[in-house]
Amino acid sequence: MLLLCGGFFKDSTPPPLAFIPPHYQIPPTQKRLLPRFFSDSFPDLHLPPITLQLKYTTMEPYSMKNPFPATVLGVRPVTKPGSAKETIHVDYSLEGSGLSYTTGDALGVIPRNDPALVDQLIEALGLDPAAEVPTTDGTPAPLRDALINCYDITGLKKGTLTKWNAVAQSDKLAAILENKDELKNFVWGRDLLDLATCPDCKACFPDAAAFVAILPKLTPRLYSIASSPDAVPGQVSLCVGAVRYTSHDRQRGGVCSTFMADRIQAGDKVKVFVHCNKNFRLPEDGSTPIIMVGPGTGIAPFRAFWQQRIADNASGPMWLFFGNPYKATDSCYEDELAPLVESGKLKLSVAWSRDQAYKIYVQNLMEQAGEEIWQWLENGAAFYMCGDANRMAKDVEKELLAIISKYGNRSEEEAAAYLADMKAAKRYQKDVY
Ligand SMILES: Cc1cc2nc3c(=O)[nH]c(=O)nc-3n(C[C@H](O)[C@H](O)[C@H](O)COP(=O)(O)OP(=O)(O)OC[C@H]3O[C@@H](n4cnc5c(N)ncnc54)[C@H](O)[C@@H]3O)c2cc1C
Ligand SMILES: NC(=O)c1ccc[n+]([C@@H]2O[C@H](COP(=O)([O-])OP(=O)(O)OC[C@H]3O[C@@H](n4cnc5c(N)ncnc54)[C@H](OP(=O)(O)O)[C@@H]3O)[C@@H](O)[C@H]2O)c1
Repeated sequence: MLLLCGGFFKDSTPPPLAFIPPHYQIPPTQKRLLPRFFSDSFPDLHLPPITLQLKYTTMEPYSMKNPFPATVLGVRPVTKPGSAKETIHVDYSLEGSGLSYTTGDALGVIPRNDPALVDQLIEALGLDPAAEVPTTDGTPAPLRDALINCYDITGLKKGTLTKWNAVAQSDKLAAILENKDELKNFVWGRDLLDLATCPDCKACFPDAAAFVAILPKLTPRLYSIASSPDAVPGQVSLCVGAVRYTSHDRQRGGVCSTFMADRIQAGDKVKVFVHCNKNFRLPEDGSTPIIMVGPGTGIAPFRAFWQQRIADNASGPMWLFFGNPYKATDSCYEDELAPLVESGKLKLSVAWSRDQAYKIYVQNLMEQAGEEIWQWLENGAAFYMCGDANRMAKDVEKELLAIISKYGNRSEEEAAAYLADMKAAKRYQKDVY
């Protein structure tokens, strides 16, 4: 923050400037004391108390509303070429941000749309890429820049489709908008370029500003932080699965995951913010055993957990259940896990789901190790789960309940009550998406 004092020195030298760190906020009560601060700090300053004019601008601390332009330190593949699950690791520097995070938090990333897709869309709409349009914060920008940085052009929702059809006046779209199931089917795997290139749905916008007026804001995406602030101070790491799929004969990519996988490199700036996740925390007592279940990118926060436990020199045993399709291409952080396993600090159970004719998932390994898991739980272990919310999280919880029931000799209701008690004691925590 830059403080400008409107007073003046008796010898006519310029007014004093005081620099305050960007994350420092002056409490409202102290703002009234600023004149006294200046007169105390600069006794030579002529300060008629009544005529003193004080002007200050406050720089907000970095947050979701005011994201920090973090420098990319590096992007590297985690899985090997040919993997069915393309996973990358990204390191950002938080230096100079004043941002801090706790192991278990997530990072919000402000993505940018693929410029190639933006160019195709502008061309299909017959608009001028240089035409000035309002951006989402009200400032004007050329259409191309605004579409890359500010607007959602891929997530087709009912609202956008309705506004599009107010211009297109397509009977086909009107019928789709009337029917919930048809609408769901239509928007799945389609984006604005599909509308712009579909003869039945085409809209003729009078100008570029009229087009951006129908678009929602490009939203940030959250990623579980895959680093511990104590292991790598001033840095933050992510483990990201690139979302790629083909739909309606066109290859497509998730906005943020492919932004990080394809379009950033060391030295670039990416806007980020810290998203606090109080419900995903290591036990305060470092001797507490922890069981972590994180197939796929679900491994991300557990990298932060093992880094934190090592940084703390914590004695508590760790057990990681990981899963991915093939051993040959899909191991993650093998080089970091191997020494932990060798030193006996971490027990590793890996479910290679497609290395055999039938699927093996993390919950199958949990079932095999049920008795030992039960012993860990009875020894006070905390149980963590991260990754796919739709299928994995439900199946893993089901297996956990089965283990409690079988080895704890409990009925279904009693097992549920046991898990509820664990949850209340913060010994059962989930970070699923
Ligand atoms: C708390 C939290 C933590 C997370 N942590 C991580 C993490 O550590 N690592 C990680 O990789 N992700 C994580 N995610 C998910 C992440 O936030 C993003 O949702 C993910 O990266 C996809 O974003 P995207 O912008 O790439 O894709 P988007 O542009 O949002 O596209 C995704 C959309 O594409 C469409 N789509 C996808 N596949 C198909 C298909 N086959 N056919 C048709 N349409 C399809 C669907 O509509 C889907 O919703 C986390 C999410 C949350 C909420
Ligand atoms: N909300 C979002 O926007 C968003 C975006 C991206 C990802 N995600 C979710 O995040 C998850 C993580 O993605 P990812 O690609 O890293 O990994 P993933 O799809 O979860 O796959 C990791 C491993 O889990 C296995 N698996 C599949 N179904 C399972 C089940 N019911 N129980 C246990 N294991 C199961 C997979 O096996 P097979 O593949 O061989 O069956 C694979 O070996 C995705 O599943 C996706 O649902 C959400």
